[in-house]
Amino acid sequence: MKKPELPELDRTVVLVGLMGAGKTCIGRRLAQALGLPFVDADTEIEAAAGCSIPEIFERFGEDEFRDGERRVMARLLEGEPHVLATGGGAFLNPETRALIRERAISIWLRADLQTLVARTARRDDRPLLKNGDARAKLQALADERYPVYAEADIAVDSSNGPPSVTTRRVLDALRTYLAAAPTARHEAST
Ligand code: S3P
Repeated sequence: MKKPELPELDRTVVLVGLMGAGKTCIGRRLAQALGLPFVDADTEIEAAAGCSIPEIFERFGEDEFRDGERRVMARLLEGEPHVLATGGGAFLNPETRALIRERAISIWLRADLQTLVARTARRDDRPLLKNGDARAKLQALADERYPVYAEADIAVDSSNGPPSVTTRRVLDALRTYLAAAPTARHEAST
C-alpha cells in the first residue's frame, strides 16, 4: 500500500505538554520524518545562559528562568520552519503562546499521570520535581496547565505505544489539521 504523503510545512511545529510527555523524543522523530531541523528549547536556554537548567533555577530562581525561556522562544519562533520541543512551562507564558499561535502549529502531547511519573523518574534534573512527591507535583501541574495546553492546535495522546506509534499519530493529526485549514491561520495573521 502507498504510504500517505507527508505534510509540507511552511511553519514551525511546536510541541507542548508536561514533563515526561515525550516532547524531545517525539520531536526528534517528527523532525526526521518531516525533513525539518529539530530544536530543543531547553538546550537553547542552557546554551544562552552558559549553565544547566538546575543551575539557572538554583542561582537565579524560576522567574529568571522563565524570562530567559520567553526570550529564547521568541528568537526561535523567528527562524526558519523547524520542529521545536518546548520546556513544559513555555506555553504558559501568554506572550509566547501568542507568538506560537501567530507563527507555528502547536501540538499538545498528552500522557496519563502514571506514564508521566514513570518517565520523569528516569532523570533527576528537573527542578520542579525535586524534593517531594513527584506524582503529587505532576498532578498539580496537570490541573493548572491542562486548560492552557488545550489551546494548542492539535492534541495527541503519547501514553500508549512506542515512540514510533506516537510519531505516526502526530503525523496523521498534522495531515488532518492541514487538510482542514491549510492556510487559515497564515491568512489571518497577514
Ligand atoms: C519545566 C520543564 C522542563 C524545563 C524546566 C521547567 C516545566 O522541560 O523547562 O525544568 O515548567 O514544566 P521538560 O518539559 O522538557 O522536562
